[in-house]
Amino acid sequence: IRRSVVRGTGHYLPERVEENAFFEQNLDTTDEWIRARTGIERRHFAAEGQTTSDLGIEAAKAALANAGLTADDIDAIIVATSTPDLTFPSVATMIQAGIGMKRGFAFDVQAVCAGFVYALSTADALLRAGQADRILVIGAEVFSRILDWSDRGTCVLFGDGAGAVILEAQDGQGTKEDRGILALDLNSDGQYRDLLYVDGGVATTGTAGHLRMQGNLVFRHAVEKLAATAHRAIERAGLAQDDVDWLVPHQANIRIIEATAKRMGLPMDKVVLTVADHGNTSAASIPLAMSVANAEGRFNPGDILVAEAIGGGLAWGAVVLRW
Ligand code: ACO
Repeated sequence: IRRSVVRGTGHYLPERVEENAFFEQNLDTTDEWIRARTGIERRHFAAEGQTTSDLGIEAAKAALANAGLTADDIDAIIVATSTPDLTFPSVATMIQAGIGMKRGFAFDVQAVCAGFVYALSTADALLRAGQADRILVIGAEVFSRILDWSDRGTCVLFGDGAGAVILEAQDGQGTKEDRGILALDLNSDGQYRDLLYVDGGVATTGTAGHLRMQGNLVFRHAVEKLAATAHRAIERAGLAQDDVDWLVPHQANIRIIEATAKRMGLPMDKVVLTVADHGNTSAASIPLAMSVANAEGRFNPGDILVAEAIGGGLAWGAVVLRW
């Protein structure tokens, strides 16, 4: 059977970095509060005029270089983002043009912070169906453009960035020993719309709007739902908790990550952490973390990775893959 194997990873972070102290100038907050409650120390912000596709193009080029491939080798691009350059066309087609890819197809998916898990799931289905042999899957965001800089409960949490993974169809035996994506678990529940949303849009205000969040309620759902979705995906892969070598979580908050790892019975040295340096980059956080850890040579062939995320919708999910 066809399996979707990770062939390469790449990422890009904008040059501008702001430490937590940046927010002390205009808000009633402190570096200590932000560190203690979130684990975030600094985050990158896109420069004026720098867009989601700009970030995604750099991440895509880095992933192609890491895989030893060129744009001609890619059949499709799927971008997970909630902060597109324009209402349309998709960021994916802009990245397609940006890397000089003149065939194949490209489109965006939107599931906020869970977007990269949804994009991986879509790519895996297309690869297994034989619609493509190599797909560039990208998470790219500029959440700085939808933050309310007067709301200390949200603006300190987010950063900008992009991560990219190249998935390649390879033949497997159909067993849990195969390399590649072994199982997925996707969920959403639209009744929780008001917990995390943007208060603007094309069909309502005609503006981009600002992010609104009931942080403590999102936190509670995250702790309860993330370990459960990871557990379902692990079980569906025919594996057990003890088989997991790495957790690559959505990087929203160190306390959510620690609670999830604890429920999964995983020690923290098996968890990839970038939240301190990146903040929450929404759909970009998992591919960013995966690319940073891969660049450090932390993953070995055969390792079992579990990635999980939850965000606006609510939408959440997990993927299990063998490196
Ligand atoms: N500095 C100082 N005080 C603050 C700050 C701040 N930056 N932000 C909030 N507070 C205050 C609140 O106003 C509140 O004060 P009050 O008691 O006087 O009203 C107090 O801190 C406690 O507020 P809580 O919201 O209960 O604090 P909590 O411990 O829950 O931490 C946080 C807030 C960090 C936002 C947490 O709820 C959280 O991380 N939630 C999850 C967010 C998340 O991960 N979202 C992921 C999805 S994002 C996406 O999909 C786009």
